[in-house]
Amino acid sequence: MKILVVDCCIRGDESRTRKLYERFLETVNEEWTVEILDLNKADLRPLNNADINERDMLVKKGETNHPMFRYANAFKEADKIIIAAPYWDLSFPSLLKVYLEHISVTGVTFGYEGTEAVGYCKAESLLYLSTCGGYIGESHMGADYVKAVAAMLGIDTFKAFTVEGLDIDPSKAEDILKTGMERMIKETL
Ligand SMILES: Cc1cc2nc3c(=O)[nH]c(=O)nc-3n(C[C@H](O)[C@H](O)[C@H](O)COP(=O)(O)O)c2cc1C
Repeated sequence: MKILVVDCCIRGDESRTRKLYERFLETVNEEWTVEILDLNKADLRPLNNADINERDMLVKKGETNHPMFRYANAFKEADKIIIAAPYWDLSFPSLLKVYLEHISVTGVTFGYEGTEAVGYCKAESLLYLSTCGGYIGESHMGADYVKAVAAMLGIDTFKAFTVEGLDIDPSKAEDILKTGMERMIKETL
C-alpha cells in the first residue's frame, strides 16, 4: 500500500506545514510505502497550448504511460494521498494549482460517462494539511477547492486539518504548532 505525499511547502525546511505532515507520517503503519513528491523540485510549469494539444493527442493514441503523465499516474495509483500546502493569499501557492493541472487529465485520472464525470483514482482518502498566519473563519478556500478536485478524480473521503494563527505572535508559534500537531493526530486518525 502506498501513501503519496504531495509537498507544496515552498519554504522547505523552514516550513511549519512540512513539520505537520512529518509528524503525521510518524503515525503511519510501517507496512505502508511513503513516496514524497516535493513540488519545489519537480519539473512543473503551467500548461500551455502546445502541452494541451500534445496530451490530447497522446491520450487519443492510448499512450498514457508517456512521461508527461507521470504525476497523473502516480496520483491515480496511490492508495492514500496527503497534500501539504501553506495557506497563501486565501488558498494555496500557485505551484499546487500547476500540479493539479498536471494530474487532472481526461482519459487518465477521470473521464466522462455520458455527461457525468467519473473519477479513476483509487486512493481511499485524501488528507489536506495546511498552516496559516491568521484565522481563516468558516471557509478554507484552498481545502474546499482540493476537496472538489479530489471528488472529481474519484476520491470521496476527504479530510482537512489546519493549524491557524501562527504569525500573530511569533513567540507563541512553536507552542501553537505543537498543540496543533497533537490535535491533528486525534482528529485525522
Ligand atoms: C505569500 C504568502 C501569502 C500568505 N497569505 C496568507 C493569507 O492569505 N492568510 C493568512 O492568514 N496567512 C497568510 N500567509 C501566512 C502563512 O499562511 C503562514 O505563515 C503559514 O504558516 C506558512 O506556512 P509554512 O510555515 O509552511 O511556510 C501567507 C504567507 C505568504 C508567504
